[in-house]
Amino acid sequence: MTSHLDHDYLRQALEHDVIAGLTATPKWLPPKWFYDAAGSELFSRITRLPEYYPTRRELAILRARAADLAAVSGADTLVELGSGTSEKTVLLLDALSAAGTLRGYTPVDVDAVTLEAAARRLAERYPGLAVRAVCADFERHLALLPRYGRRMVAFLGGTIGNLEPAARAVFLKELRATLRPGDTFLLGADLVKDPRRLVAAYDDSAGVTAEFNRNVLRVIDRELDADFDPEAFEHVALYDERHDWIEMRLRATRAMRVWVGGLGLAVSFEAGEEMRTEISAKFRPERLLAELESAGFEVRRRYTDPADDFTLVLAAA
Ligand code: SAH
Ligand code: TRP
Repeated sequence: MTSHLDHDYLRQALEHDVIAGLTATPKWLPPKWFYDAAGSELFSRITRLPEYYPTRRELAILRARAADLAAVSGADTLVELGSGTSEKTVLLLDALSAAGTLRGYTPVDVDAVTLEAAARRLAERYPGLAVRAVCADFERHLALLPRYGRRMVAFLGGTIGNLEPAARAVFLKELRATLRPGDTFLLGADLVKDPRRLVAAYDDSAGVTAEFNRNVLRVIDRELDADFDPEAFEHVALYDERHDWIEMRLRATRAMRVWVGGLGLAVSFEAGEEMRTEISAKFRPERLLAELESAGFEVRRRYTDPADDFTLVLAAA
């Protein structure tokens, strides 16, 4: 595994984000710190919750369309950003393999533990496949990803929605700049729909998403020697109709002072104070295609599931 995220780098990036976020008004924390090994495991459980439809919808689209994607892209190398457990990926790999083009797979994720396990599993399942895992931050390291072959860069799961609009535009432009003629981009995005279904998907009745949300506090406690009491924070998920995004927050259930030992930083919370931990933007198809086009992509295919809940777009460089 190649890593652009050694321990010092991660530590500095986390320190930077925690200082910036916890000294701001209102407070916030960036979502990539949800994903240590425990966070990735909680996310896997989220994907199986009855309320969390995106994974099942995206799988359904892939099942129906993977062969078409393989044929239209002509890709021999699949690069997957935010690959996690790479569960949906096998549909793409099977299709590329059936098309006779498949040679390489490069999963890219910030969580080294989950990444390595997924890479090992896929290397066993596809003998002869060149699996080159890269532990990296897709907001910083796109230019460092391997460029062998005719690539399809997949970004699934609606993870693009976790970027703020300005960061999303930068991400799309940077990605476009790393692609060469013949390369393609496969993007999975969640669509605007009834807010009640959206909120339920991020506030499940079993409380798994709440645990996932609180996991960011556990990561900070462990890595920066802080004394957050995760149980003193309540999970909040709401739909912001003005921005078309889900917002996740952690709400302090009482006034408290938190000590972040590793930073020598004291942070006070008022009772009821809310701190934003994530957005998950939902898209209107025209808007999504316009964003891709303004980043320099040419849209080749757009698919949805029968319920029109989720969309996959294949765009050419
Ligand atoms: N693609 C999978 C997982 C989605 S969850 C699916 O569709 O089910 C988001 C994944 O992106 C997690 O595995 C998380 O570790 C990873 N991730 C989040 N922010 C990241 C970043 N900045 N750089 C690289 N990976 C990131
Ligand atoms: N990319 C996924 C999404 O926005 C990740 C996700 C699902 C998530 N549930 C979450 C991230 C809850 C933070 C909190 O749907």
